[in-house]
Order: sequence, then C-alpha cells, then structure tokens
Amino acid sequence: MALRKVRTMGDEILYKHCKPVKVMTPRIAQLIEDMFETMYENCGVGLAAPQVGILKQIVVIDIEDGDQYLLINPEIMEESGSQTGHEGCLSVPGKSGIVTRPDYVKVRALDENMEEFVLEGEGMLARAICHECDHLKGELYVSRVEGELVDVEDLEEEEE
Ligand code: NI
Repeated sequence: MALRKVRTMGDEILYKHCKPVKVMTPRIAQLIEDMFETMYENCGVGLAAPQVGILKQIVVIDIEDGDQYLLINPEIMEESGSQTGHEGCLSVPGKSGIVTRPDYVKVRALDENMEEFVLEGEGMLARAICHECDHLKGELYVSRVEGELVDVEDLEEEEE
C-alpha cells in the first residue's frame, strides 16, 4: 500500500472526464487499495481516482456507517428528494460550502471482481455518491456552491 498525492483545485486533471475501467488488473487493484489508504490518511469520506491523478471511473467512499464502498464505472440510475448542507473535498483543502443534492440515489456500479451491483444511498451517502460521481465528469463541488466557500476553521468556531 502507498499513499498517493491528492491533486488540488487548479490541477487540470480534476476537470477532465474519466474513462471506464474495462478489466481489473493488479495495477488497478493496487490503485484502489491506495485510494482507500489515502482517503483515510486525509480524513476524507470519499475519493475519486482523478484526485490522485488517474483518469479512471473509480470511487471509494466511507461515511463511517460501517461499510466501505467501492464503485467502479458508477452510473446514477435514480435520484429523488433534496438536501442542502455543507460539503467539502480533499481537493479543496480547508474549505466548505453549501450544496443542494438529492436525498436519495440509486447507483449501478461494478465491484472489485467487476461484477455489477446496485447501491441505494440516503442522506450523507447519497451526497457522497453524487459528489464523487461528479469528480468522474471533471466537476468539483465548488461550481455548485450556494453562496461563498468558507474556511472550515471559521465554521468550527461558529459551532462552538
Ligand atoms: Ni471531492
């Protein structure tokens, strides 16, 4: 396992479309392991491959609900409801902004064996799925922020 460098806003790779994964290879398996490790090391709840400089449709998510999610070639099939709340991204360090997302999504993806599965997410999981799938289309949440991006430090002070 190895930590990968997280690309930050302004890095052109974050604005490109990712290609689907066609076959699982040892290299891709290693990338997935590294993505989980890099996400945990940086205290993130999700990470998409372009954030570590790889233009492939791979997403890892752990919103601390007891599950680790790996989504290869994810496709959102259904979404409903809406939620408005704070969002952040490891590629936009120290910042947060208000984003409205669906409150429910159903996503189809491949697992580590390249077998298809369907995942339904509500609340924070729905938000994470949408955020990470946006990365695969070269979109950062900052383009969806309502109002201003704020410093996370200021937010923490408000909450105290
Ligand atoms: Ni992000």
